Amino acid sequence: MHKLTNKLENKLANELATAFSTIRDHTGTLAQPLSAEDCCVQSMPDASPAKWHLAHTTWFFETFILEQFETGFRPFHPAFRVLFNSYYEGVGEQHPRAQRGLMTRPSLAEVQAYRQNVDQRLLALLGQTLAPDQMQQLTALVELGLQHEQQHQELLLTDIKHLLSMNPLQPPYLAWDVMTEETGAAAAAAATALQWQPFEAGIVEIGHAGNGFFFDNETPRHRQFVEPFSMASRLVSKGEYLAFVEAGGYQNPLLWLAAGWDWVQQQKLTRPLYWQAAHAQFDSAWREFTLHGLQPLALHEAVTHISFFEAEAYARWAGARLPTEAEWELAAAAQISDSAVDYFGIAWQWTTSSYAPYPGYVALPGAVGEYNGKFMVNQYVLRGSSSATPEGHARLSYRNFFPATARWQFSGIRLARS
Ligand SMILES: [Fe+2]
Repeated sequence: MHKLTNKLENKLANELATAFSTIRDHTGTLAQPLSAEDCCVQSMPDASPAKWHLAHTTWFFETFILEQFETGFRPFHPAFRVLFNSYYEGVGEQHPRAQRGLMTRPSLAEVQAYRQNVDQRLLALLGQTLAPDQMQQLTALVELGLQHEQQHQELLLTDIKHLLSMNPLQPPYLAWDVMTEETGAAAAAAATALQWQPFEAGIVEIGHAGNGFFFDNETPRHRQFVEPFSMASRLVSKGEYLAFVEAGGYQNPLLWLAAGWDWVQQQKLTRPLYWQAAHAQFDSAWREFTLHGLQPLALHEAVTHISFFEAEAYARWAGARLPTEAEWELAAAAQISDSAVDYFGIAWQWTTSSYAPYPGYVALPGAVGEYNGKFMVNQYVLRGSSSATPEGHARLSYRNFFPATARWQFSGIRLARS
């Protein structure tokens, strides 16, 4: 019996070690097209330099795992505990977020060495024999660290897109041909006629169910009452959103929430982030900055980089509204077997649901309890996943969240109506 348990544990540890190497290597692959200069600069306080992402994801494994489980633990560098702590008060001091781009030291090469060092030590730890409860704690934390790494993989892409968009050369992150698979999927999703799929009123269950990884904020699974509603069969396209722009959507206060209108006025907004206006002198066509450089606006693709305020105003203009999380989860669950639907893999979808704890929510114990719970204020939930979300990271119950003005993520619009 004891031998059998050992074998099972070894198998699990081996699988975890493989997943660890694959996911950590993928982060390296994403940073591959970037120069050391690209990796150092921070384009705005919300975004982080690529070098910081590479270091902070490593810091997570070093601080939450090696420090607790490694015999004779010594930090790779004593200053990194503060430098690469994002927001964990339980760990201690943090380097100011808006000053992450000033770190010309440590160099990119030193950060790469930090990654290698922590990878080796963590893999060694996974190869050791530990007491069952220790092993269970270790594997749960490694899994959390890997999901965390995947979240930062998406942020690395959205942050680098924002940085490159501000470069006068408008450089591509990747050549067009590498990205065609993603753009192809987005095009197919938004090119079809929009249909309204009806759902009956009833008590529905939402939240995480079954096996597999989940974040604490997806639990407990609980009941909600949903009135009858219809959900759009596909995401709003860039062509449809362009009609809103050209109809003066950004100039009409009646379409906006008060705080949204203040924001539009203050920021002098007239179009989505990364769109460049038609210029009669040029060729009168709209363009957009993408991860493969400046491109003609792809009208049939799903619109992305839309804030909650913009999504909400567009929905009002279109005679519809944004869905609630419960409506979204119900509709997505009904569609999940149909591979043609675009609930996942193209654009995160704003809901009208505030990011709040589910009834009975309990944060993870210990320092990692700061992961989700303390951000449950002044943000809205987004559902689904985007073209920048790593393979295997999306789930039906996944709750992403951002403030109402955030638009540097691949966030789009799915309409609902009552
Ligand atoms: Fe993080």
